Amino acid sequence: MSGPKKVAILISGGGSNMVSLVESMTGDHPARPCLVMSNDAQAGGLKKAAAAGIATAVVDHRPFKGDREDFEAELCKPILEAGADIVCLAGFMRVLTAGFVSRFEGRMLNIHPSLLPKYKGLHTHARALEAGDAEHGCTVHEVTPLLDDGPILGQARVPVLGDDTPDTLAARVLVQEHKLYPAVLRRFAAGDRTRIDLS
Ligand code: GRF
Repeated sequence: MSGPKKVAILISGGGSNMVSLVESMTGDHPARPCLVMSNDAQAGGLKKAAAAGIATAVVDHRPFKGDREDFEAELCKPILEAGADIVCLAGFMRVLTAGFVSRFEGRMLNIHPSLLPKYKGLHTHARALEAGDAEHGCTVHEVTPLLDDGPILGQARVPVLGDDTPDTLAARVLVQEHKLYPAVLRRFAAGDRTRIDLS
């Protein structure tokens, strides 16, 4: 009987999604966090992970000056050393090459702050407001070589309000991210890819 699945979480900033994932992996949850890693040594989430007793690592992308393959060769090492079964990208802001993705395809998830396939890439909240959308939200998907494009495992929807700014809309979406990602991870770690929809 194999033990719980080991989850490595990659962040670039405050790591609020990482915190939600870590806090959800308790009791009879089929997974446990094994690593929190960032491309930025200043990422606030690293302190939160360390405070929770989770191993952390930093692989700064800047010394690699755009040589993505060399950066990713270093980025792989802590994940492999930690024996991660699943990789969760959570506010990780570096684009990953097909080479890196292929090493973890089928066991790497990402949360994106839009209702994919709408608004792949950046500034999703501003773009939804610009388009006059009545609703917006977030998506958890399997990571494949194409950016923000893999099979959708879950979505959460929020209304767009008349006086919304990108920041107020982002804050409303973030609340749902913190519910959706843990729900999807729990199911995914149990081997269940049935889609979850929250609204
Ligand atoms: C969130 O908006 C999330 O959708 C995106 O990164 C942002 C910051 O997330 N992936 P976090 O607070 O660092 O988890």
